[in-house]
Amino acid sequence: MRKLVFATNNNHKLKELMQILPSEFELLSLNDIGCTDEIPETGPTLEVNAAQKSFYIWDKYGINCFADDTGLEIEALGNEPGVFSARYAGEEKSTVANKQKVLENMKNESNRKARFRCVISLIIDGKEKQFEGIVDGQILTENHGEAGFGYDPIFIPDGFSLSFAEMSADDKNKISHRGRAVMKLVEYLKDIK
Ligand code: IMP
Repeated sequence: MRKLVFATNNNHKLKELMQILPSEFELLSLNDIGCTDEIPETGPTLEVNAAQKSFYIWDKYGINCFADDTGLEIEALGNEPGVFSARYAGEEKSTVANKQKVLENMKNESNRKARFRCVISLIIDGKEKQFEGIVDGQILTENHGEAGFGYDPIFIPDGFSLSFAEMSADDKNKISHRGRAVMKLVEYLKDIK
């Protein structure tokens, strides 16, 4: 089995990824490789942040790895919160406060168009490749559902009547930004293995 580190501390994402990645890959977490560092993500774009995280692991541990960075881009807010999605309402990175800020900023807005955009930076033997996944949808006016994480309860993907937080993990994975980026990653990995 090929070892591949997913440079994230987010257990929701790890679980999602384990369901998607083919069995010939052994997915390792930061915990598994003994990395407890606060990996910097200080870039101005999702692309720069994803690469910053993956190169941090490659440079320090020399293990093939990938990192992702996701932003919720809301049209009426000039694509905010975007790269600031995790800390939209402040450095304490509160999911509740972040969602509340979005709902507040969108209170009188009729254009509810939004998208999640995910960028994955993969490093194999020191060479980087990026994959992008996008899901278009709408921002709801209040929370719907308990599943998932982050902005899931206030995002409804186009063509569906359930929010991301009302879907099963399986259903979300099939259409989500990260699911789509990961599918591209997996196709690529199959080709080079
Ligand atoms: P990250 O950079 O990928 O960790 O994501 C940045 C922010 O976007 C975090 O605050 C997450 O809550 C949010 N986010 C990322 N992926 C998702 C998702 O699949 N659903 C809802 N929110 C997400």
